[in-house]
Amino acid sequence: MADPVSIGFIGTGGIAGHHLKELAALGPQQARVVALCDLLEERAQAVAADFEGARAFADHRRMFDEVGDSLDAVYVCVPPFAHDDAEQLAAERGLHLFVEKPVVLDFDLGLANMEAIRAAGVLSSVGYTLRYRHPWRTARDLLHERDVSMICADRWGGMPEDEGSWWRVQEKSGGQLHEQTTHQVDAMRWIAGDVTEVYACYGRRVADKTTNMTVPDSQVVTLQFASGAVGYVSNVCTMTKGGGRSGMQVIMGDCIADVGRELTVRPEEAIAVPTEVPAYESIDAAFVRAVASGDGAPILCDYREGLKSAAISLAANESAQTGRPVSVWQGE
Ligand SMILES: NC(=O)c1ccc[n+]([C@@H]2O[C@H](COP(=O)([O-])OP(=O)(O)OC[C@H]3O[C@@H](n4cnc5c(N)ncnc54)[C@H](O)[C@@H]3O)[C@@H](O)[C@H]2O)c1
Repeated sequence: MADPVSIGFIGTGGIAGHHLKELAALGPQQARVVALCDLLEERAQAVAADFEGARAFADHRRMFDEVGDSLDAVYVCVPPFAHDDAEQLAAERGLHLFVEKPVVLDFDLGLANMEAIRAAGVLSSVGYTLRYRHPWRTARDLLHERDVSMICADRWGGMPEDEGSWWRVQEKSGGQLHEQTTHQVDAMRWIAGDVTEVYACYGRRVADKTTNMTVPDSQVVTLQFASGAVGYVSNVCTMTKGGGRSGMQVIMGDCIADVGRELTVRPEEAIAVPTEVPAYESIDAAFVRAVASGDGAPILCDYREGLKSAAISLAANESAQTGRPVSVWQGE
Protein backbone atom coordinates (compact mmCIF):
# COMPACT_ATOMS: atom_id res chain seq x y z
CA MET A 1 0.00 0.00 0.00
CA ALA A 2 1.25 3.53 -0.82
CA ASP A 3 2.40 5.81 2.00
CA PRO A 4 -0.13 8.39 3.22
CA VAL A 5 0.22 11.92 1.88
CA SER A 6 2.11 13.94 4.49
CA ILE A 7 0.69 17.46 4.92
CA GLY A 8 1.61 20.77 6.56
CA PHE A 9 -0.72 23.73 7.15
CA ILE A 10 0.05 27.46 7.00
CA GLY A 11 -2.80 29.29 8.75
CA THR A 12 -4.90 27.29 11.22
CA GLY A 13 -8.03 29.50 11.47
CA GLY A 14 -11.61 28.92 10.33
CA ILE A 15 -11.23 27.27 6.93
CA ALA A 16 -8.18 25.25 7.97
CA GLY A 17 -10.42 23.60 10.60
CA HIS A 18 -12.78 22.48 7.85
CA HIS A 19 -9.99 20.98 5.69
CA LEU A 20 -8.44 19.29 8.73
CA LYS A 21 -11.75 17.54 9.44
CA GLU A 22 -12.05 16.41 5.83
CA LEU A 23 -8.48 15.10 5.84
CA ALA A 24 -9.04 13.28 9.14
CA ALA A 25 -12.14 11.68 7.61
CA LEU A 26 -9.98 10.23 4.80
CA GLY A 27 -8.12 8.23 7.46
CA PRO A 28 -4.39 7.88 8.34
CA GLN A 29 -3.75 5.52 5.42
CA GLN A 30 -4.49 8.33 3.00
CA ALA A 31 -3.51 11.61 4.68
CA ARG A 32 -1.39 12.52 7.68
CA VAL A 33 -1.17 16.07 9.09
CA VAL A 34 2.36 16.41 10.45
CA ALA A 35 2.97 20.17 10.83
CA LEU A 36 0.82 23.23 11.52
CA CYS A 37 1.93 26.85 11.39
CA ASP A 38 0.09 29.98 12.47
CA LEU A 39 1.28 33.47 13.38
CA LEU A 40 -0.65 32.79 16.60
CA GLU A 41 1.53 29.88 17.73
CA GLU A 42 -0.84 28.85 20.53
CA ARG A 43 -3.56 28.40 17.88
CA ALA A 44 -1.27 26.09 15.88
CA GLN A 45 -0.35 24.23 19.07
CA ALA A 46 -4.00 23.72 20.03
CA VAL A 47 -4.76 22.25 16.60
CA ALA A 48 -1.56 20.13 16.57
CA ALA A 49 -2.71 18.47 19.80
CA ASP A 50 -5.44 16.72 17.78
CA PHE A 51 -2.94 15.11 15.36
CA GLU A 52 -0.56 12.54 16.81
CA GLY A 53 3.05 13.59 16.45
CA ALA A 54 2.21 16.85 14.62
CA ARG A 55 4.51 19.82 15.30
CA ALA A 56 3.45 23.46 15.68
CA PHE A 57 5.27 26.51 14.31
CA ALA A 58 4.80 30.28 14.24
CA ASP A 59 6.79 30.80 11.02
CA HIS A 60 6.48 28.76 7.81
CA ARG A 61 10.20 29.21 6.99
CA ARG A 62 11.07 27.41 10.23
CA MET A 63 8.47 24.78 9.43
CA PHE A 64 10.07 24.18 6.01
CA ASP A 65 13.61 24.15 7.48
CA GLU A 66 12.78 21.72 10.27
CA VAL A 67 10.23 19.34 8.77
CA GLY A 68 10.09 20.29 5.05
CA ASP A 69 11.78 17.02 4.03
CA SER A 70 8.97 15.00 5.60
CA LEU A 71 6.19 16.88 3.76
CA ASP A 72 4.52 16.02 0.45
CA ALA A 73 2.05 18.94 0.37
CA VAL A 74 1.13 22.20 2.05
CA TYR A 75 -2.24 23.87 2.59
CA VAL A 76 -2.04 27.69 2.59
CA CYS A 77 -5.09 28.98 4.48
CA VAL A 78 -4.27 32.61 5.21
CA PRO A 79 -6.34 35.76 4.44
CA PRO A 80 -5.80 37.48 1.06
CA PHE A 81 -3.37 40.14 2.36
CA ALA A 82 -1.23 37.57 4.21
CA HIS A 83 0.16 35.65 1.24
CA ASP A 84 3.92 36.14 1.03
CA ASP A 85 6.78 33.81 0.06
CA ALA A 86 5.13 30.61 1.36
CA GLU A 87 3.86 29.32 -2.00
CA GLN A 88 7.19 29.97 -3.74
CA LEU A 89 9.26 28.40 -0.95
CA ALA A 90 6.98 25.36 -0.91
CA ALA A 91 7.10 24.94 -4.70
CA GLU A 92 10.90 25.28 -4.72
CA ARG A 93 11.05 22.44 -2.20
CA GLY A 94 8.90 20.29 -4.52
CA LEU A 95 5.85 20.44 -2.24
CA HIS A 96 2.40 20.27 -3.81
CA LEU A 97 0.13 23.19 -2.93
CA PHE A 98 -3.46 23.65 -1.86
CA VAL A 99 -4.14 27.42 -1.70
CA GLU A 100 -7.32 29.01 -0.41
CA LYS A 101 -9.25 31.42 -2.59
CA PRO A 102 -8.79 34.23 -3.45
CA VAL A 103 -5.19 33.23 -4.14
CA VAL A 104 -3.81 36.77 -3.68
CA LEU A 105 -4.59 40.43 -3.24
CA ASP A 106 -1.38 41.51 -4.99
CA PHE A 107 -1.65 40.31 -8.59
CA ASP A 108 2.13 40.42 -9.25
CA LEU A 109 2.68 38.07 -6.31
CA GLY A 110 0.09 35.76 -7.90
CA LEU A 111 2.06 35.76 -11.16
CA ALA A 112 5.30 34.97 -9.30
CA ASN A 113 3.60 32.14 -7.39
CA MET A 114 2.14 30.73 -10.60
CA GLU A 115 5.55 30.79 -12.26
CA ALA A 116 7.20 29.08 -9.24
CA ILE A 117 4.55 26.33 -9.33
CA ARG A 118 5.01 25.89 -13.08
CA ALA A 119 8.83 25.84 -12.85
CA ALA A 120 8.81 23.29 -10.03
CA GLY A 121 6.22 21.09 -11.75
CA VAL A 122 4.26 20.63 -8.51
CA LEU A 123 0.50 20.13 -8.38
CA SER A 124 -1.71 22.98 -7.20
CA SER A 125 -5.33 23.20 -6.14
CA VAL A 126 -7.36 26.30 -5.21
CA GLY A 127 -10.26 26.23 -2.73
CA TYR A 128 -13.11 26.94 -5.16
CA THR A 129 -15.33 24.35 -3.52
CA LEU A 130 -18.42 25.01 -5.66
CA ARG A 131 -16.64 23.21 -8.50
CA TYR A 132 -16.78 20.00 -6.44
CA ARG A 133 -20.44 20.28 -5.41
CA HIS A 134 -23.90 19.76 -6.76
CA PRO A 135 -25.59 21.73 -8.26
CA TRP A 136 -22.62 23.78 -9.48
CA ARG A 137 -20.65 20.87 -10.92
CA THR A 138 -23.78 19.43 -12.46
CA ALA A 139 -24.54 22.83 -14.01
CA ARG A 140 -21.05 23.06 -15.45
CA ASP A 141 -21.31 19.56 -16.96
CA LEU A 142 -24.68 20.31 -18.54
CA LEU A 143 -24.14 23.91 -19.64
CA HIS A 144 -20.56 24.78 -20.46
CA GLU A 145 -20.67 23.61 -24.08
CA ARG A 146 -23.97 25.39 -24.77
CA ASP A 147 -24.33 28.89 -26.21
CA VAL A 148 -24.76 31.06 -23.12
CA SER A 149 -26.03 34.54 -24.01
CA MET A 150 -26.10 35.98 -20.48
CA ILE A 151 -25.05 34.81 -17.03
CA CYS A 152 -25.91 36.64 -13.79
CA ALA A 153 -25.06 35.97 -10.14
CA ASP A 154 -26.09 37.62 -6.88
CA ARG A 155 -24.69 37.14 -3.41
CA TRP A 156 -26.49 39.36 -0.91
CA GLY A 157 -25.84 38.73 2.75
CA GLY A 158 -23.71 39.71 5.69
CA MET A 159 -20.09 39.38 6.69
CA PRO A 160 -18.29 38.54 9.95
CA GLU A 161 -19.72 40.89 12.56
CA ASP A 162 -16.46 41.17 14.53
CA GLU A 163 -15.54 44.85 14.19
CA GLY A 164 -11.85 44.01 14.24
CA SER A 165 -11.99 41.41 11.47
CA TRP A 166 -9.80 41.63 8.39
CA TRP A 167 -12.89 41.15 6.15
CA ARG A 168 -13.95 44.74 6.83
CA VAL A 169 -10.66 46.27 5.68
CA GLN A 170 -10.22 46.85 1.94
CA GLU A 171 -6.41 46.56 2.11
CA LYS A 172 -6.73 43.17 3.82
CA SER A 173 -9.65 41.36 2.17
CA GLY A 174 -9.92 43.26 -1.12
CA GLY A 175 -13.66 43.67 -0.44
CA GLN A 176 -16.42 41.08 -0.34
CA LEU A 177 -16.55 40.56 -4.12
CA HIS A 178 -12.88 39.53 -4.11
CA GLU A 179 -13.06 37.66 -0.80
CA GLN A 180 -16.28 35.65 -0.85
CA THR A 181 -18.25 36.36 -4.03
CA THR A 182 -15.15 35.15 -5.87
CA HIS A 183 -16.84 31.72 -5.54
CA GLN A 184 -19.68 32.93 -7.79
CA VAL A 185 -17.26 34.71 -10.15
CA ASP A 186 -15.24 31.52 -10.53
CA ALA A 187 -18.39 29.45 -11.15
CA MET A 188 -19.53 31.92 -13.83
CA ARG A 189 -16.19 31.66 -15.60
CA TRP A 190 -16.17 27.86 -15.25
CA ILE A 191 -19.58 27.67 -16.91
CA ALA A 192 -19.47 30.52 -19.47
CA GLY A 193 -15.73 30.79 -20.19
CA ASP A 194 -13.16 33.54 -19.74
CA VAL A 195 -14.00 37.16 -18.99
CA THR A 196 -12.21 39.79 -21.06
CA GLU A 197 -13.44 43.08 -19.58
CA VAL A 198 -15.30 44.38 -16.52
CA TYR A 199 -16.96 47.61 -15.50
CA ALA A 200 -17.80 48.10 -11.81
CA CYS A 201 -19.83 50.45 -9.61
CA TYR A 202 -19.49 50.20 -5.81
CA GLY A 203 -21.62 51.82 -3.07
CA ARG A 204 -20.79 52.73 0.52
CA ARG A 205 -24.00 54.21 1.94
CA VAL A 206 -24.21 51.67 4.79
CA ALA A 207 -20.45 51.09 5.09
CA ASP A 208 -19.90 54.80 5.72
CA LYS A 209 -22.01 54.51 8.87
CA THR A 210 -20.46 51.19 10.01
CA THR A 211 -17.56 50.99 12.46
CA ASN A 212 -14.15 50.03 11.01
CA MET A 213 -15.56 49.15 7.57
CA THR A 214 -13.53 50.33 4.59
CA VAL A 215 -14.86 47.77 2.09
CA PRO A 216 -17.82 48.79 -0.10
CA ASP A 217 -21.21 47.51 1.05
CA SER A 218 -22.67 47.02 -2.45
CA GLN A 219 -20.92 46.03 -5.66
CA VAL A 220 -22.24 45.58 -9.20
CA VAL A 221 -19.96 44.45 -12.01
CA THR A 222 -20.79 43.95 -15.68
CA LEU A 223 -18.79 41.24 -17.41
CA GLN A 224 -17.88 40.79 -21.07
CA PHE A 225 -17.00 37.16 -21.88
CA ALA A 226 -14.57 36.06 -24.59
CA SER A 227 -17.40 34.04 -26.16
CA GLY A 228 -19.47 37.20 -26.73
CA ALA A 229 -21.75 36.45 -23.76
CA VAL A 230 -22.43 39.21 -21.24
CA GLY A 231 -23.25 39.06 -17.57
CA TYR A 232 -23.23 40.73 -14.20
CA VAL A 233 -22.37 39.83 -10.64
CA SER A 234 -23.76 41.72 -7.64
CA ASN A 235 -22.71 41.61 -4.03
CA VAL A 236 -24.09 43.07 -0.81
CA CYS A 237 -22.38 42.42 2.53
CA THR A 238 -24.27 44.44 5.12
CA MET A 239 -27.43 42.35 5.55
CA THR A 240 -26.66 41.30 9.11
CA LYS A 241 -30.32 40.72 10.05
CA GLY A 242 -30.95 37.95 7.49
CA GLY A 243 -33.07 38.08 4.36
CA GLY A 244 -30.21 37.67 1.89
CA ARG A 245 -30.23 36.02 -1.50
CA SER A 246 -27.76 34.01 -3.52
CA GLY A 247 -27.96 32.34 -6.88
CA MET A 248 -27.06 32.31 -10.54
CA GLN A 249 -29.06 32.39 -13.77
CA VAL A 250 -27.67 31.10 -17.04
CA ILE A 251 -29.66 32.26 -20.06
CA MET A 252 -29.41 30.32 -23.33
CA GLY A 253 -31.33 30.46 -26.59
CA ASP A 254 -33.81 27.74 -25.63
CA CYS A 255 -33.96 27.87 -21.83
CA ILE A 256 -32.87 29.44 -18.57
CA ALA A 257 -31.05 27.55 -15.82
CA ASP A 258 -31.25 28.62 -12.16
CA VAL A 259 -28.33 27.47 -10.03
CA GLY A 260 -28.68 27.82 -6.26
CA ARG A 261 -29.66 25.21 -3.71
CA GLU A 262 -30.96 23.19 -6.68
CA LEU A 263 -30.50 23.24 -10.43
CA THR A 264 -33.71 23.98 -12.31
CA VAL A 265 -34.24 24.50 -16.02
CA ARG A 266 -37.20 26.22 -17.69
CA PRO A 267 -38.75 24.88 -19.86
CA GLU A 268 -37.93 21.57 -18.17
CA GLU A 269 -37.73 19.57 -21.38
CA ALA A 270 -34.83 21.67 -22.73
CA ILE A 271 -32.18 19.86 -20.61
CA ALA A 272 -32.40 16.55 -18.73
CA VAL A 273 -31.30 17.41 -15.18
CA PRO A 274 -30.40 14.29 -13.11
CA THR A 275 -33.06 13.52 -10.51
CA GLU A 276 -30.52 11.97 -8.08
CA VAL A 277 -27.85 14.22 -6.58
CA PRO A 278 -24.55 12.89 -7.96
CA ALA A 279 -21.95 11.80 -5.36
CA TYR A 280 -18.96 14.02 -6.06
CA GLU A 281 -15.55 13.64 -4.44
CA SER A 282 -14.68 16.40 -1.92
CA ILE A 283 -12.05 19.00 -2.79
CA ASP A 284 -9.70 17.54 -0.15
CA ALA A 285 -10.17 13.94 -1.25
CA ALA A 286 -9.47 15.01 -4.85
CA PHE A 287 -6.27 16.84 -3.85
CA VAL A 288 -4.96 13.95 -1.75
CA ARG A 289 -5.76 11.47 -4.54
CA ALA A 290 -3.93 13.69 -7.05
CA VAL A 291 -0.83 14.04 -4.84
CA ALA A 292 -0.76 10.32 -4.01
CA SER A 293 -0.89 9.35 -7.68
CA GLY A 294 1.07 12.28 -9.14
CA ASP A 295 -1.78 12.78 -11.62
CA GLY A 296 -3.51 16.17 -11.39
CA ALA A 297 -6.71 15.03 -13.14
CA PRO A 298 -8.93 15.03 -9.99
CA ILE A 299 -8.10 18.73 -9.36
CA LEU A 300 -10.75 20.99 -10.91
CA CYS A 301 -9.05 24.36 -10.28
CA ASP A 302 -5.28 24.75 -10.28
CA TYR A 303 -3.35 27.90 -9.28
CA ARG A 304 -3.41 29.44 -12.77
CA GLU A 305 -7.18 28.92 -12.97
CA GLY A 306 -7.61 30.38 -9.50
CA LEU A 307 -5.51 33.41 -10.43
CA LYS A 308 -7.71 33.99 -13.50
CA SER A 309 -10.77 34.19 -11.26
CA ALA A 310 -9.02 36.47 -8.75
CA ALA A 311 -7.96 38.70 -11.67
CA ILE A 312 -11.62 39.44 -12.41
CA SER A 313 -12.41 40.90 -8.98
CA LEU A 314 -9.08 42.74 -8.88
CA ALA A 315 -9.92 44.29 -12.27
CA ALA A 316 -13.39 45.20 -10.90
CA ASN A 317 -11.75 46.97 -7.94
CA GLU A 318 -9.63 48.97 -10.39
CA SER A 319 -12.67 49.80 -12.51
CA ALA A 320 -14.66 51.03 -9.50
CA GLN A 321 -11.75 53.25 -8.56
CA THR A 322 -11.06 54.69 -12.03
CA GLY A 323 -14.66 54.76 -13.30
CA ARG A 324 -13.53 53.00 -16.51
CA PRO A 325 -13.87 49.51 -18.00
CA VAL A 326 -10.78 47.39 -17.27
CA SER A 327 -9.35 44.51 -19.32
CA VAL A 328 -8.95 41.22 -17.47
CA TRP A 329 -5.75 39.13 -17.52
CA GLN A 330 -6.26 36.16 -19.82
CA GLY A 331 -3.71 33.83 -18.31
CA GLU A 332 -0.92 34.20 -20.90
N1 LIG B 1 -13.16 27.81 0.22
C1 LIG B 1 -14.01 28.27 1.10
O1 LIG B 1 -15.21 27.96 1.05
C2 LIG B 1 -13.52 29.21 2.16
C3 LIG B 1 -14.27 29.40 3.33
C4 LIG B 1 -13.75 30.25 4.31
C5 LIG B 1 -12.53 30.90 4.11
N2 LIG B 1 -11.84 30.71 2.95
C6 LIG B 1 -10.60 31.44 2.67
O2 LIG B 1 -9.54 31.01 3.52
C7 LIG B 1 -8.69 32.10 3.83
C8 LIG B 1 -8.59 32.19 5.36
O3 LIG B 1 -9.88 32.39 5.89
P1 LIG B 1 -10.24 31.95 7.39
O4 LIG B 1 -11.71 32.01 7.49
O5 LIG B 1 -9.57 30.68 7.74
O6 LIG B 1 -9.56 33.16 8.21
P2 LIG B 1 -9.19 33.18 9.74
O7 LIG B 1 -8.95 34.61 10.08
O8 LIG B 1 -10.20 32.39 10.52
O9 LIG B 1 -7.82 32.36 9.81
C9 LIG B 1 -6.65 32.78 9.16
C10 LIG B 1 -5.46 32.30 9.99
O10 LIG B 1 -4.26 32.59 9.29
C11 LIG B 1 -3.29 33.01 10.23
N3 LIG B 1 -2.23 33.73 9.52
C12 LIG B 1 -2.27 34.94 8.92
N4 LIG B 1 -1.10 35.20 8.31
C13 LIG B 1 -0.31 34.12 8.52
C14 LIG B 1 1.02 33.79 8.13
N5 LIG B 1 1.77 34.62 7.38
N6 LIG B 1 1.52 32.59 8.53
C15 LIG B 1 0.77 31.74 9.25
N7 LIG B 1 -0.50 32.01 9.66
C16 LIG B 1 -1.01 33.18 9.28
C17 LIG B 1 -4.08 33.84 11.24
O11 LIG B 1 -3.39 34.02 12.46
C18 LIG B 1 -5.36 33.02 11.35
O12 LIG B 1 -5.25 32.05 12.38
C19 LIG B 1 -9.32 33.34 3.18
O13 LIG B 1 -8.67 33.63 1.96
C20 LIG B 1 -10.75 32.92 2.92
O14 LIG B 1 -11.34 33.52 1.79
C21 LIG B 1 -12.30 29.86 2.00
